[in-house]
Amino acid sequence: MHVSRVLVSASLFGLSLSASSCNGKWATLVQSTLSSSTTIQCAAANQRWSDFAAPSPGAVVTVGNENDVAKIIAAASKTNTPFLVQSGGNGWADTFNISSTGIIIDISQLKNISFNKNKTQVTFQAGVTNEDMINAAWDNNARVSVSTCNCVSLLGATLGGGLSRTQGTYGLNIDNLISVNMVDASGVKKTVTPKSDPQLWWALTGAGANFGVVTSATYKSQPVPQAQNTAWTGLVFFNESQIEEVITAIDQLTLEPAMQMDIYFTASPLDGKPGVIFLPFYLGSEEVGRQKFASILNIGSILDTTEVIPYNTWNSAGDPFCTDGGRKPSYTIGLKKMEPTAWRNVWNAYTEFFNSYAEANLTTILTECYPTAATAKSVQSDGSTSYPFRDIKCYAIAIPWYTSPSIDAAAIAWGQQVRSYWAASAGTSCTSSYVNFAHGDESLAQIYGSSLGQLKQLKKKYDPYKRLNQWFPLS
Ligand SMILES: Cc1cc2nc3c(=O)[nH]c(=O)nc-3n(C[C@H](O)[C@H](O)[C@H](O)COP(=O)(O)OP(=O)(O)OC[C@H]3O[C@@H](n4cnc5c(N)ncnc54)[C@H](O)[C@@H]3O)c2cc1C
Ligand SMILES: *[C@@H]1O[C@H](CO)[C@@H](O)[C@H](O)[C@H]1NC(C)=O
Ligand SMILES: *[C@@H]1O[C@H](CO)[C@@H](O)[C@H](O)[C@H]1NC(C)=O
Ligand SMILES: *[C@@H]1O[C@H](CO)[C@@H](O)[C@H](O)[C@H]1NC(C)=O
Ligand SMILES: *[C@@H]1O[C@H](CO)[C@@H](O)[C@H](O)[C@H]1NC(C)=O
Ligand SMILES: *[C@@H]1O[C@H](CO)[C@@H](O)[C@H](O)[C@H]1NC(C)=O
Repeated sequence: MHVSRVLVSASLFGLSLSASSCNGKWATLVQSTLSSSTTIQCAAANQRWSDFAAPSPGAVVTVGNENDVAKIIAAASKTNTPFLVQSGGNGWADTFNISSTGIIIDISQLKNISFNKNKTQVTFQAGVTNEDMINAAWDNNARVSVSTCNCVSLLGATLGGGLSRTQGTYGLNIDNLISVNMVDASGVKKTVTPKSDPQLWWALTGAGANFGVVTSATYKSQPVPQAQNTAWTGLVFFNESQIEEVITAIDQLTLEPAMQMDIYFTASPLDGKPGVIFLPFYLGSEEVGRQKFASILNIGSILDTTEVIPYNTWNSAGDPFCTDGGRKPSYTIGLKKMEPTAWRNVWNAYTEFFNSYAEANLTTILTECYPTAATAKSVQSDGSTSYPFRDIKCYAIAIPWYTSPSIDAAAIAWGQQVRSYWAASAGTSCTSSYVNFAHGDESLAQIYGSSLGQLKQLKKKYDPYKRLNQWFPLS
């Protein structure tokens, strides 16, 4: 085991340490207990997608195998050491509460992926990112449901629901889960399936981070030969003067199962200036894709780069969003309606923020829209999962993106303002925020919707000491 300087005042494995004893003693003890590929680093080495409200632990323990996770959580639980499990490190919420007395259990190196013979199932570990899975599936002539950005941990996204471009056809990520191997709040390993423990399964599939640390899972896979594993997608650039027309057309378009779409306000790759970019996705041919999105395409774009592309490049357009570091205090809301006046206000707020801070030129308004009828009817929308927002069409996010903490206050005010423009015409009876996109200033009812009451009950049963308390904790 490689041990760099350990700055930890936690008490783990029966040994209490203060920051002054940042030496190998604690590490030696850990070494005798955990696998030889485990590494321990001081917190400064930790890279996350957003530095805003990031956890600042005493140490980051990067585990070598799934058993290590159980051992560390058992020790942390015995000694009341706060811990945060980190996989892709993309979570941007401000609900992390880890200081020098706590540790990060980094599971990002658990990368195993194995398909069954006929490619109908895949078993993978918790450090697997969307990109890892896409590449493995591609190599196996398979298509596995993943989320839109390559850097995100597949399980990290899935445990909150897991939105996917192909969810109209295959369901949300949680609908693809077959079983999970997890460690509970006291460090006990369990295999959970919908049948083995229906209540825990329900809680895990929507509020997973509150109920266990999933170390590996078995998930559905579709056998699809590479030559057929394609979709029609790409960037379509509109003029900002067309925002009202584009938003109205998006609002009025009912997405069929094979369709998905995004709309961005972001620095245009054409000229670096604020731009309006539409991203249609159709799991089929260009000809039919163009027909399905005709009401938007017919508005007349500045540039249309859509084409039929292979599964292993579907996420490429999102790669710039995966850039780690910088401050990104983001705000979201779920939308059933999109109202042109509200979106003109959002555009004006976006360009004003963009123009006010030169370093904030990656600031983005990102909206992802999904077919709802299909997810609502999907295999497991029979009440066996706790994800509460299957009827939400669009998920809008305001992402301010900069480096100076001096801009924080302006960025927060801006994000809240944009969210309030959306909230006024969201078309929902209650304001909703997808747990994986939320900020942390919302009410728990806004995050967990109609599942909140039952989740709170189950929290008492499965995590009575509230140790899994870092991601929108159910108090
Ligand atoms: C660029 C970008 C694009 C995104 N695109 C999408 C998208 O298309 N669809 C979508 O649904 N979401 C998307 N998200 C949101 C994403 O789902 C969440 O940020 C998710 O929480 C990230 O998980 P992570 O493991 O990468 O991050 P982390 O910060 O490591 O984890 C986030 C939280 O989940 C917990 N967690 C992670 N893994 C596990 C595990 N195995 N067991 C228990 N708890 C765990 C962590 O403890 C932490 O509290 C995107 C985020 C970013 C930054
Ligand atoms: C943060 O954690 C500390 C213990 O490490 C606890 O005392 C404090 O109440 C927590 N704060 C919040 C807001 O939960
Ligand atoms: C990783 O997957 C392979 C099959 O591809 C399997 O033989 C091996 O046991 C797995 N290793 C771990 C540590 O799970
Ligand atoms: C694929 O193999 C599994 C066993 O691993 C079997 O249960 C399933 O019926 C097979 N499916 C198809 C479509 O062949
Ligand atoms: C955008 O529209 C405005 C007003 O219609 C027009 O003046 C401008 O030239 C257009 N820009 C581009 C890039 O087409
Ligand atoms: C954004 O700003 C940075 C400096 O803050 C600059 O290096 C970069 O070129 C700018 N990007 C664009 C697209 O203008």
